[in-house]
Amino acid sequence: LVVDASDATGRPIPETLFGIFFEEINHAGAGGLWAELVSNRGFEAGGPNTPSNIDPWTIIGNESSIIVETDRTSCFDRNKVALRLEVLCDSEGDNICPNEGVGVYNPGFWGMNIEQGKKYKVIFYVRSTESLNLTVSLIGTNGVGNLASSTITGTAADFSSWTKVETLLVAKATDHNSRLQLTTNTKGVIWLDQVSAMPQDTYKGHGFRTELFEMLSALKPKFIRFPGGCFVEGEWLRNAFRWKATVGPWEERPGHFGDVWMYWTDDGLGYFEFLQLAEDLGAIPIWVFNNGVSHNDEVDTSAVLPLVQEALDGIEFARGDPTSKWGSLRAAMGHPEPFDLRYVAVGNEDCGKPKYRGNYLKFYHAIRTAYPDIQIISNCDGSSRALDHPADMYDYHVYTNANDMFSRANTFDRTSRNGPKAFVSEYAVTGKDAGTGSLLAALAEAGFLIGLEKNSDVIEMVSYAPLFVNANDRRWIPDAIVFDSYQMYGTPSYWVQKLFVESSGATFLPSTLNTTSSNQLIASAISWKDSTENKNYIRIKVVNFGRGTETIDISIDGFPVGQQFGCTKTVLTSDNVMDENSFAQPTKVVPQTSSAVNVESKIQAILSPFSVTSFDFLI
Ligand code: AHR
Repeated sequence: LVVDASDATGRPIPETLFGIFFEEINHAGAGGLWAELVSNRGFEAGGPNTPSNIDPWTIIGNESSIIVETDRTSCFDRNKVALRLEVLCDSEGDNICPNEGVGVYNPGFWGMNIEQGKKYKVIFYVRSTESLNLTVSLIGTNGVGNLASSTITGTAADFSSWTKVETLLVAKATDHNSRLQLTTNTKGVIWLDQVSAMPQDTYKGHGFRTELFEMLSALKPKFIRFPGGCFVEGEWLRNAFRWKATVGPWEERPGHFGDVWMYWTDDGLGYFEFLQLAEDLGAIPIWVFNNGVSHNDEVDTSAVLPLVQEALDGIEFARGDPTSKWGSLRAAMGHPEPFDLRYVAVGNEDCGKPKYRGNYLKFYHAIRTAYPDIQIISNCDGSSRALDHPADMYDYHVYTNANDMFSRANTFDRTSRNGPKAFVSEYAVTGKDAGTGSLLAALAEAGFLIGLEKNSDVIEMVSYAPLFVNANDRRWIPDAIVFDSYQMYGTPSYWVQKLFVESSGATFLPSTLNTTSSNQLIASAISWKDSTENKNYIRIKVVNFGRGTETIDISIDGFPVGQQFGCTKTVLTSDNVMDENSFAQPTKVVPQTSSAVNVESKIQAILSPFSVTSFDFLI
């Protein structure tokens, strides 16, 4: 491999090249990155008709001690369903309550992770016909072990109308499969609504589960595309993500059923929180909005203007003046400064749908007129022929087998250099080559990414999909990060992405791979300056997608003969190409690093079968 490191030939790689795509899929947000522990906190998941199913809430007590059902008496107009508990037993008399009391518990998302010494803020709204004596507790696995509790008391007058209660629980022990319990042993009728339990140690107090946030942060994402995916479209328009229903005080959000991935979300992670997440990650937000097209129904172009206005309002919410209508709501939510929204995508995978082009143009012209600087992304693929409509970028998605993914490194070689640039916003090896996250899949993706790096004069942005999976709800496999209530690991595909984090904004160096032995090698080279260390590097990445060991000569032209460098070698490989990580072996397939000093600019590299290797030269 001959790398040309002379100043004359390098080409800048877009600052934005590598980022992430966050979709509310696999409980990525609700029961994932969003740290709320209570599932269905407003009792709305069972639908607006009452009495409704309160799943996963569970009744404590039997029919002689308590009657539990929903009604529509909530104090919150956009989510009227509340929980009514008619307590039949008492602490004295002929129907004595059981020792543990009666009431309800919430198991969270397959168990709440409660950790010793940590604080949990519980907030709920309550109303009562009698004096109140309600115990709020965190209870361990299978209802055994009191981890923390607090009792709320007051007269009937104190709670005759809806009252907000806040209590801070400090855990006495650790249990990864806990539940939140609200119980009483006092006769009367109690209503509950909007019950929340939040760990106090979320990232910057912004509600993101810290360790999951840190896994994202380690990818140094330059952008975050959100909130979907199919989640944006819905099977039906009535279930699509509508940003206005996800902002304002959390208690007032209606929540919605995501009918593509088939679960309810309380929308605690709403439009504001996505923008906050982007800011916290130092990533540019890319908002994907519904354009009047779902999987099964579409709004006619003649009737799409209300949705166009909804998109314009969403942009105003993100970056409008704090005195503007929607900018003032953002300011009231604690962020008077505008968010750095510069890109929007009109829909997701909707290009072939009958109404897409007509609707797209309405959105395009309205946004271009109101916000000339905003970059507008089309769903139609412009990689092999010119788009028939104006766009600043176009989406490109690919899910395929490993061989095909590796061969797609050349996809953009023949793309016109004059049209809008590509946003490869979803790519992954899927199917039997990928399992739930194999080395094979990751290596094919590494080859594909090297091809994208080479073509980064026509590719602006790249993100893997999906990002997250809660192991209890694998709606889509594979994914980059696997987690449950308390553990997490990166799949090999996650670790491949880490090898590319320095590429955004780096200089692409031309290189020539002269090998007679195999067409299963692909390589690229970049140079960049680490501004915190004030050091300059060249990184050479080589994927060996074959089953044999390969030996190649690497030389970096542009340095005097005899000059020596420090060199760090990082290899991602494993004994078996189908190896995966797991909770039991979270680091089975992770990069291994070794360093050497006094390395010359000509080296011989031995590349393991099925591996990706990067060489960082400190220059
Ligand atoms: O990433 C999973 C899904 O794949 C996305 O929701 C969709 O855009 C694509 O079909």
